[in-house]
Order: sequence, then structure tokens, then C-alpha cells
Amino acid sequence: MNQTSGKMDGLVNQNPFPANRVDDLILQMSMARGIDGIITVLRQSARDLIGADGVSFVLRENDRCYYADDDAVAPLWNDRRLPSESCISGWAMKHGELVVIEDIARDDRIPHAAYQGTFVKSLVVVPVRKEDPVGAIEAYWAKAERPSEESVRLLQRIANSAAVAMTNVALINALAAAKEEAARARDALILAMASLAETRDYETGNHIRRTQHYVRALAEALKEQGVYAEELSDEAIDLLHKSAPLHDIGKVGIPDSVLLKPGKLDPKEYEVMKSHAELGRAAIATAERYMGSATPFLSVAREIAHTHHEKWNGTGYPRGLQGEDIPIGGRIMAIADAYDALVSERIYKPAMSHDEAVDIIVRDAGTHFDPGLVEVFAKIAPRFKEIHGQFTDKE
Ligand SMILES: [Fe+2]
Ligand SMILES: [Fe+2]
Repeated sequence: MNQTSGKMDGLVNQNPFPANRVDDLILQMSMARGIDGIITVLRQSARDLIGADGVSFVLRENDRCYYADDDAVAPLWNDRRLPSESCISGWAMKHGELVVIEDIARDDRIPHAAYQGTFVKSLVVVPVRKEDPVGAIEAYWAKAERPSEESVRLLQRIANSAAVAMTNVALINALAAAKEEAARARDALILAMASLAETRDYETGNHIRRTQHYVRALAEALKEQGVYAEELSDEAIDLLHKSAPLHDIGKVGIPDSVLLKPGKLDPKEYEVMKSHAELGRAAIATAERYMGSATPFLSVAREIAHTHHEKWNGTGYPRGLQGEDIPIGGRIMAIADAYDALVSERIYKPAMSHDEAVDIIVRDAGTHFDPGLVEVFAKIAPRFKEIHGQFTDKE
């Protein structure tokens, strides 16, 4: 019986391996993003550097060892799963210990049946992560002799780097999952808030969906034609599209007597109605404060809610902003909102034809609407008609 495990004290610290290649291997390994990356790095140079006749990368799968990859002079267990008690990696992971075996025929930790017919005579196994190992790296030699201390040290360093990489991968995956969940929660919240606004209004849910698509269509066309393109990156367009449903969220705060009045509003009522722009801004600003940090989505939503009734010539509300002082989101939404209001039937008015609606918007370029935007709108107006047809208001 000859057992040597985990005792590396007092060894002469010689390093016969080319330092650059070793450093490179260790660096590459700790930067690997995923199991495939670790396997690739191992395959590139580990066997050669360690001076072994074979290297296996083993993953722990409950009570089994999964031989994820072999790089050896002759076939071993590549892609096979062995019960933990039938492989030496199982022993190393169970005990969280380095294993150095000079002659496998004379070591009772070795499940001898598994090694029969293989070239393996001596080996080193290093668990990946000491606490609660997630895998192991095995190195084999075809001669029954004690593997050099340098080989063992190097394998240990490689396994440590693999542990770092696997911990990173787990963290990255967890972060991605949390981000995705937050994004899903945000989208659900927007829809819930927007539908709250809808249920109180004559305007239907489809108005919200249509305006959202008009906004995207117009923003994409503007970008394509080089109009305000510097403000319309793909991310910016995405934010406009996602935050557009909140443009009338402030209507939640308008009393029914005004919001649901079938006839024309008197001047006092009109003033109350106009306050929905400021109410919307304030509601979203509150959400932003609770977020504690800048959230691009909320700031775009706030801008649109606040400014979608501003007019190019400064006669809009609530602040009477003029020209390009009105944020691009508000200017785009003004066209989307107006087009949809014109071509849709409301309890107090019939629907107008597409052509009439386009004429009105074109006529109001430079007074109500940004003329640069209207020019592009006129070119892609058929797309607006298509969107309107796609999300019709059915009783
Ligand atoms: Fe509005
Ligand atoms: Fe609207």
C-alpha cells in the first residue's frame, strides 16, 4: 500500500514549466465563461504542460462523476457517468482532498475494475473547489512512478482557477436570471399601470398598444432617414416603445365627471383634464425616487407623460415648451396620439379617414407638430394605417 495525499509541505519549489505558458493557462482558465470554456483551456495545453499522458475534467452530478472531457493518449471515460464510488474523482470530491497515487494497483482508494484495460498506472486528482467541490481534474501517467511535485502543484493551480471560473459562471447566471426577472416585473408593472389608466377612459387598451407601435415605427423611420438620428439609438427606440403605454397614466387622477363627460369640456373642466400631464410626471417621478438610482426607462416615461401635449409653437401644455425644448419622446408621442385619436371612433365623435387624419397632421406641422417629424410621418403614414388595422377596437 502506498498512499500519498495532500502532503506537499517541504517540497523544493522548482518550476520546470515555461512560466509564460503556465501564467497564460491559469489566466485563461480563470476567465473561462462556462464549462465549455474550461474544457477548451484544458485541451489547449494542460496535458502538455503538466507532462501527463492524460487529463480528464470531471463534473459532480449528485452521486455521479461525469467525465465531461478526456484528453489522453488512449480512450478513457469521455462523456461517461460513473457512480461516485467507482471513480477516484468521486473519492477526491467526497473528501475535498488532493490525491496522488504512484501505483494504482497498490492503492485501495482506486476502484480497480474501472481502470482495468486502461493505460493508467499513476495519477493525480485535484478537486475543483475545496469546500463542497463541484468537479475534479485528473491527470494520468502510463508509468507507475510518483508524479513530480511540480506537476501536482500546477494541477492544483489549474483546479483553483477552474473553481474561480465556475464560481463566476454561477454568479453571472444568477445575475442574468435576476435581471431578467426584474425586466419581466417592470414590463408587467407598466402594463398594469397603463391598463389602470385605460379602464377609466374612453380610450381602449388598443389605443395604448397602437400608440406604442406608432412610436416605434416613427422613431425607426426617423433614425433611418437621419432625422434626429443621434437621439435615436436602438436602445433609445426600445425605451420609447416600452415607456409609451404610460403616456396618459396621469388620467388616473382625473375625476370621472371630467374624464367620462360625453360632451365638450367647459374651460374649467378642460383645465382639470390638462392636469393629467403633470399628474403623470409626478407619479413616475415618485417611482424614480423609490428606485433610488437613475432608471432610463422611467425618465423616458416621465418625459413622455409630461410633454406629449406640448406644441411645437409653444402653445401646448403644461409648460408651453417650444421646438426642440420638447423632448423627442414627447414630440413623437404627440403625432402618434393625435393620429390615433383622429382615426378612432369615440363616444363623442365618429372616426375620421386615414387620409383626412394625415392631412390634418401635415397641415399642423410647424404649429402643433415638429415639421421634421411630420415630413417623415407623411412618408410612412401607410404603416400607421396598417398598425391601426392590426389592433382594431372591437366591441
Ligand atoms: Fe394625454
Ligand atoms: Fe393617448
